[in-house]
Amino acid sequence: MDIGSPQERGQWGSKLGFIMAAAGSAVGLGNLWKFPFLAGQNGGGAFVLVYFLILFVVGFTLMMAEITVGRYTQLNAIGAYRKIKASWAWVGSLGVIAGFLILSFYSVIGGWIIAYIVKAASGAFNTADTKMLGDMFTTFIQSAGAPLFYHGIFMLLTLGIVIGGIQNGIEKYSKILMPALLIMIVLVMIRSITLDGAMEGVKFFLNPDFSKITGGVILSALGQVFFSLSLGMGCMITYGSYLSKDTNIPECAFYIPLIDTGVALLAGLAILPAVFAFNFPPDAGPGLLFITLPAVFSKMPMGSLMGVLFFTLALFAAITSSISLLEVCVSYVVDEWNWTRKKATLIIAGLIFAAGVPCSLSQGPWSHIKLIKGKGILDSVDFVASNILLPLGGILLCVFIGWVWGLRRIQRISKTDEGKTIITWELEYTDALKEVTNDGKINFALAPIWVFLIKWLAPVAIGIVFIQGIF
Ligand code: PFF
Repeated sequence: MDIGSPQERGQWGSKLGFIMAAAGSAVGLGNLWKFPFLAGQNGGGAFVLVYFLILFVVGFTLMMAEITVGRYTQLNAIGAYRKIKASWAWVGSLGVIAGFLILSFYSVIGGWIIAYIVKAASGAFNTADTKMLGDMFTTFIQSAGAPLFYHGIFMLLTLGIVIGGIQNGIEKYSKILMPALLIMIVLVMIRSITLDGAMEGVKFFLNPDFSKITGGVILSALGQVFFSLSLGMGCMITYGSYLSKDTNIPECAFYIPLIDTGVALLAGLAILPAVFAFNFPPDAGPGLLFITLPAVFSKMPMGSLMGVLFFTLALFAAITSSISLLEVCVSYVVDEWNWTRKKATLIIAGLIFAAGVPCSLSQGPWSHIKLIKGKGILDSVDFVASNILLPLGGILLCVFIGWVWGLRRIQRISKTDEGKTIITWELEYTDALKEVTNDGKINFALAPIWVFLIKWLAPVAIGIVFIQGIF
């Protein structure tokens, strides 16, 4: 494929390739870093249970919706909205902006992961003193040079894959990195649950304590579903746009959240049992990955190896997500401005690197700068993108598909032989529904439920998080 030609958009080589790439986008720092610590803070099994319920209601619904818009239009996030209804193109722009912003800080954290692979390999975790490990972490992220250096390396890795295009870049690497990640996480999990005293952690993670389910737990679970499944910013629209017309959308939309949740559960089972086995607090919050885990590894037989393995798998997970964030921006510029993929990737990656510099510096030299609600630069960017742009994008997508593009039920009135009137409802085969079912060739029995979720339940549920997220 000539990646220099702007007309050549590219296409996934196989359904498996698409599922690996899309699951790769979903599986990331959200699963390995955020999910276990959110579960740790929000009552373990109670959080996991609520997460599951929301996943079924909102996760699958929006996943199908985004892939459908992408495949129908075969365009980037902005072009896709514009093609269906021109006045809605701005919703796609919100997504591209969100992708740009999320990648700017995601890459900074991705850089920390690379630094921690180096630290693990050089034996820096040979203490179980969380105070010392905490100091090591803070000293590192507060310095100016090293985190920027690693942020640069992370962006270079991301760019190096995206520049190769769909089949020779994103799909090729996802098909290698995702299975590798799965094998590694299973190894770490086995090590973790076979430690003495690990069962306490397994119980904590899987036993739901219903008294712990509060409004706050529900809201954090809903936000996590969005971020973790890469929804609300047109990422799955973009990936869906490289699908061929004969793929089974409901099937793909089922596997992606399944893999994402599987990895989140494995991550919880890899981390929390070890944390319990060595008597560390499970609710250490964001520091769980960079402070508590190194302490855990230092106490474990074969700990250094486990440390290197764990941070390498975290890097793989982060990279398969960062490439999807970059692709959202690149595909827009390639489609709409006719730039070559090479030029688009290099320039946008450079801009995102630059935008990440203040995020990185905000941990140290620029920590006095507060932007939103007393938050520093990195946390403010995360707040705007994750808590405002993603839920907003999700609600607008539901309204767009359900009400603007159109999913309708039609009333049929018929008469029985005795002259009784019978009223039945059936779904109208609008363009949206035709796309989902490949012109009726796929029997998608859950279609009426999906339509109800898209039009009513999902936008209302997301609306609640959105309002909560802002205030
Ligand atoms: N889903 C990724 C994670 O869990 O780390 C983050 C992400 C990637 C969010 C792509 C949004 C996105 F479009």
